[in-house]
Amino acid sequence: MLTNPVMTASGTFGYGTEYSHLFDIQKLGAIICKATTLEPREGNEQPRIAETAGGMLNSIGLQNIGVKALIAEKAPIWAGWRVPVIVNIAGQTIGEYARLAEALEGIDGIGGLEVNISCPNVKAGGDEFGADPKTAAGVIAAVKAATSLPIIAKLTPNITDITKVAIAVTKAGADAISLINTLKGMAIDIYKRQPLLGNVTGGLSGPAIKPVALYMVHKVAGQVDVPIIGCGGITTASDAIEFIMAGASAIQVGTASFKNPQAPLAILEGIEQFVKKEKLKSLSEIIGAARR
Ligand SMILES: Cc1cc2nc3c(=O)[nH]c(=O)nc-3n(C[C@H](O)[C@H](O)[C@H](O)COP(=O)(O)O)c2cc1C
Repeated sequence: MLTNPVMTASGTFGYGTEYSHLFDIQKLGAIICKATTLEPREGNEQPRIAETAGGMLNSIGLQNIGVKALIAEKAPIWAGWRVPVIVNIAGQTIGEYARLAEALEGIDGIGGLEVNISCPNVKAGGDEFGADPKTAAGVIAAVKAATSLPIIAKLTPNITDITKVAIAVTKAGADAISLINTLKGMAIDIYKRQPLLGNVTGGLSGPAIKPVALYMVHKVAGQVDVPIIGCGGITTASDAIEFIMAGASAIQVGTASFKNPQAPLAILEGIEQFVKKEKLKSLSEIIGAARR
């Protein structure tokens, strides 16, 4: 159970440790760390970031320290924190997801797993897993069998009907669903006549994707009986409240943290003010309030 609904989105808040000196991160509902793979990864070719109208493209390619270093170096720090840390895991095969879950089982400082079946920036695995309901369910079932931790399935928007995947992963044992990961996109340098990103394509995030993410939360809510965590372009408290009214029980703040590292806390405080102003007994009163 979280103390409040505001989390940081994977890949936009490091391991939390990078931000602990900037503000009281212990006040947040949860921290979701950068995707973790079995082996350390260097990530994709540079450039890996491009600014776009109302957002950004990234093609980081899951650069991370690997699960062994995460357990040795990060988990002992997290174990002393009040804020729960959820580890985002990414595999290239279903077996790799299961091995990651096994490795993270029983480690102090880890409060849950977010299963990333939605990364658009890797050659093997990534959003291929999240694009097919059966494969997505296969990943979640394998992780479920390997862990006693709560599991969040993180879904991709790069698909015709996100609801089918949402229903499949819920049946396979996901305790919650987070949506959305980035939308696949690209940009071109017209003088070099070349794609701007080294990886050619990347994932679009930030305010530009908010209406799409909101629509997807609205679409999935009511179709599944597990909590939905809304994510995509949330920059202000009113953005977050829109997601809650669309049916999300919690939200994640991503790209907004790059502009203002304290954005997650400002959003949390803004939600609390809204609850007071609207004289709500609790935030749960407005979950799904705008659903028709
Ligand atoms: C630089 C960057 C790195 C990201 N890395 C990950 C990742 O490792 N795992 C993951 O599940 N999502 C990752 N994401 C996606 C975000 O967690 C989030 O789903 C997406 O950016 C949409 O939210 P936003 O518009 O608030 O940023 C990344 C996003 C960005 C911008």
